[in-house]
Amino acid sequence: MRVSIIQIKEMKQKGEKIAMLTAYDYATAKLIDGAGIPLILVGDSLGMVVLGYESTIPVTMDEMLHHTKAVVRGTTRALIVGDMPFMTYQVSVDDALRNAARFIQEGGAQTVKLEGGENMAETVKRIVSSGIPVMGHIGLTPQSIHQLGGFKVMGKTLEAAVRLINDAKALDEAGVFAIVLECVPEPLSKLITEKVSVPTIGIGAGKYCDGQVQVISDLLGLYTDFVPKHAKQYARLFESIKSATADYIAEVQAGAFPTEKQSYAMDKSVLTELEKSM
Ligand code: KIV
Repeated sequence: MRVSIIQIKEMKQKGEKIAMLTAYDYATAKLIDGAGIPLILVGDSLGMVVLGYESTIPVTMDEMLHHTKAVVRGTTRALIVGDMPFMTYQVSVDDALRNAARFIQEGGAQTVKLEGGENMAETVKRIVSSGIPVMGHIGLTPQSIHQLGGFKVMGKTLEAAVRLINDAKALDEAGVFAIVLECVPEPLSKLITEKVSVPTIGIGAGKYCDGQVQVISDLLGLYTDFVPKHAKQYARLFESIKSATADYIAEVQAGAFPTEKQSYAMDKSVLTELEKSM
């Protein structure tokens, strides 16, 4: 049985910290689900860390659905959050509802995430009232990167901090089950966490959030084009993959791979027969 949004909300009440990770494929999702991660985000960060785009902006609904389905197939326990890509929920509420429904019906996710605060409150209300749980996302919202002028910490001035608090409250009132706080100063995310009824999930938002999210490729040390300050490498797969590849190339070149262990045998009599016939 999968983790539910009720259980996620209860974790805040009980003071239990929530761990969330992104995943984009069957194999990784299966591993982290098996390791006990309760929340998996199929993030549109896949555009950068898997598909090699410069930002998350080019990511399409079809790409998100393709990866969401793979993650769902690899999991039995984690609650899956499908990340709504750029311009699939901003144009109209009807559009937002249709695309959120695709994540649930076609992708098999249980919930969706979208970026924005007060400006998205009506959209969130409508999606939630249609029976689809929504996770909010405020602070640094990568889909607005051109508007924001780059990847940077948000809410540093009094005005910006008040705006973020109001965004969080508006999302809470609109019915989100959790809110991602990305690149928010620790004291501000502490305040926000105290002011909202639902869990806050931080990424670059300090230790007072109710939970934390990391991009799996950062956590595993797989994506090294850009490593943000808030990322912690729990492994350095980049190095392991590079050295495994170099070993493989060297063994192929030296004729040391494959050995008998990796080869398939054939019945001797069939082989003799075959050789005679040639
Ligand atoms: O797309 C993503 O991975 C995200 C997380 C950084 C929260 O939105």
